[in-house]
Amino acid sequence: MTQVDRTREHLIETYRKKAKHYDVTSRLYPAPGYPQRTQRLRAVRALGLRVGDTVIDMACGTGLNFPLLQKVVGPGGRIVGVDLTDAMLARAQDRIETNGWSNVSLVQADAAGFDFPAGVNAILSTYAMTQVPECAEVIAHGAKALSGGGHWVVLDLKVPGNTPGWIAQLGTAIVRPFASIDEWTMRRPWEAIRVAMQEELADFSWTELFFGTAFLAAGTRGPGTSGVRPRESGHQ
Ligand SMILES: C[S@@+](CC[C@H](N)C(=O)[O-])C[C@H]1O[C@@H](n2cnc3c(N)ncnc32)[C@H](O)[C@@H]1O
Repeated sequence: MTQVDRTREHLIETYRKKAKHYDVTSRLYPAPGYPQRTQRLRAVRALGLRVGDTVIDMACGTGLNFPLLQKVVGPGGRIVGVDLTDAMLARAQDRIETNGWSNVSLVQADAAGFDFPAGVNAILSTYAMTQVPECAEVIAHGAKALSGGGHWVVLDLKVPGNTPGWIAQLGTAIVRPFASIDEWTMRRPWEAIRVAMQEELADFSWTELFFGTAFLAAGTRGPGTSGVRPRESGHQ
């Protein structure tokens, strides 16, 4: 088993334990006072969705974004939730059944190996992409699958610039269950996400949120492109 495999196993185990209470505990995520619902709404608005559109919620967890996405795509639209952790998807399935949604489907897959369906209108990922070691590749694969004018939006956490190391560690301690905080802080995955989105998408925008502890990144697939399949097979 490689180090990446071990980290992934640890992540799955961690989210299996968190799944049951995630909807409640995540309200304090990443820290008490963080306007989580407002930021989610902001991210969904940035997707530029219209009634009837298809959207992928990458690393959807328990599906906290689904009600917000439903509001914009309506029953004639389609939502595809993708996640690595079975227990998180089980909660998402409960949410789907409780709400009687027939237009939401779930896929258990690693973002790194997910074969994005061609021609989706938008891709969203909230509080997850910095946990994916291959985040830049995932951005690139998703970008190629978007239909012309489609949006890729990432909302996630980061370490604020010019912050003393110990404060950064304190701030991230509660939100980084999957790997060592040192590793995450050193690796700075938000920078890889930023570069990948800049390279792969047009109209790139980057907004720092909550004193630089979070970011909203958005980009658009250039017009006139139809969304080609990024590759023929993936290791889901
Ligand atoms: C903090 S939760 C965020 C869930 C949801 N997006 C939200 O905003 O509430 C992180 C989620 O990312 C998922 N995840 C982490 N790494 C992943 C990967 N490589 N592929 C797919 N899902 C992954 C975890 O299983 C977990 O459900």
